[in-house]
Amino acid sequence: MSGGRIATVFAICTSLLLGNLALPQGLSYTPVPSGFDFPADERVLLDAVSRGDEEQLRTHAWTVFAGLTQKTRQNDPNSEAVWETWYTGDEVFSAETGVQKGLRSLKRDLVAPRQFSPHGGAHLKAAGESQLSSTLFNQELKDHTRSEKLQLHRTMKAINDGWPAQTPVENRKVKDYPRGAMSLKLVWMPVAKNGMTAIPTWDEMPVTDVAGAFPPSSWKRRVAVDPSRSSVPEGELTDLPGFPGSRVVPLTAFHHFKLDAEQAARFGRDEGDYAVLVGMHYTTKEIPNWFWATFWWHDRPNDGPYAADRLDDTKIRGPWRNYLMDIAYDMDLPKETNGTPNAVFNPWLEAHFENGVNSNCMTCHQRAIWTEPDATFLPITRGAAPANDPIFRNSTKVDFLWSLPLEGNN
Ligand code: HEC
Repeated sequence: MSGGRIATVFAICTSLLLGNLALPQGLSYTPVPSGFDFPADERVLLDAVSRGDEEQLRTHAWTVFAGLTQKTRQNDPNSEAVWETWYTGDEVFSAETGVQKGLRSLKRDLVAPRQFSPHGGAHLKAAGESQLSSTLFNQELKDHTRSEKLQLHRTMKAINDGWPAQTPVENRKVKDYPRGAMSLKLVWMPVAKNGMTAIPTWDEMPVTDVAGAFPPSSWKRRVAVDPSRSSVPEGELTDLPGFPGSRVVPLTAFHHFKLDAEQAARFGRDEGDYAVLVGMHYTTKEIPNWFWATFWWHDRPNDGPYAADRLDDTKIRGPWRNYLMDIAYDMDLPKETNGTPNAVFNPWLEAHFENGVNSNCMTCHQRAIWTEPDATFLPITRGAAPANDPIFRNSTKVDFLWSLPLEGNN
């Protein structure tokens, strides 16, 4: 028998033993597949940034999104999306050694969005807003955090206490994350298993120059999500309380999953209700200040500037075509039409905050610091923080990663 045939027979035997005996298989981590421009060449990205080449940068952002949303098993429509296999905050930031106890599973650690917690200096979760949130991290981000032990309070305190008095602010920082590091923040809404559920829909209300907060309850329109059908005739309307003539859309228009008993209990829902993905943030360390992209569901996903440059349906498939996108790669540029620094926000997240519709991902995350007592990330600021900004005194910059002080410190 040739070496090749021996190998083949061996492979078949192993797969019979491992696969077909239905040994419990844990969720295995899957990176962004090759062919999706991640991580992109740094020079190419930085050149596009310096030219302000929105089209090239948006195409890159959609390409990474396409990679993230591929199925883990190409031929299995029920397999999860690549990003769903990524590490939870617990797996990255727990104080334990990180040795896996038992098999990993698709856990989805949903919590009320931490960003709206008192850490921000204000409790802004309006009554009746029932969003659920979660964060996920890739291998490179997890490995760097844990090998440097940045998740531990004692490491961060030692680093912070160790800066000689005259250390310039820009040098008071943790070692940079590697270029392949990436993280996600997800926003979900519950949908009842029976009947129609109203989901607020953001229509880019004219918000430039408007101070104020725009939580989803204040949005002008709702769609009615129908879990009982996989397609709904174009133009079908229904009356929702307070929103007559709302457009009906099927559950399958969203990336969604069914809440298990434990998840349902935690959010006062019924087992078998669903969670639909309404928003997603991602950030990658492909450029020094990270590359930022944000997505939100819309029932007219092919209209307007946030639909521009989306890849075709061989790359971005099914419900993933129903998300709009904006990107941030600079704290100031491109300037808004009124001359102010660039604003990039997710309606489901930042619009909650006073002035949040004028926020910029990079601007808020550059202020991510470890300090005692805990840092706060509000109020919203614009443009690059001056090096002598008092928030940087007695603190250590944590490479834009707000989760590090908020989820870590264990
Ligand atoms: C006003 C401050 C603020 C703004 C603006 C902001 N974020 Fe965040 N972000 C946070 C905080 C605080 C956390 C960590 C707590 C949490 O999980 O909610 C966070 C968490 C994240 C995470 C998880 C990893 C991490 O860095 O901790 C990602 C990814 C992220 N944000 C992306 C974005 C993107 C993309 C935008 C712009 C569309 C954005 N953020 C705008 C404050 C902000």
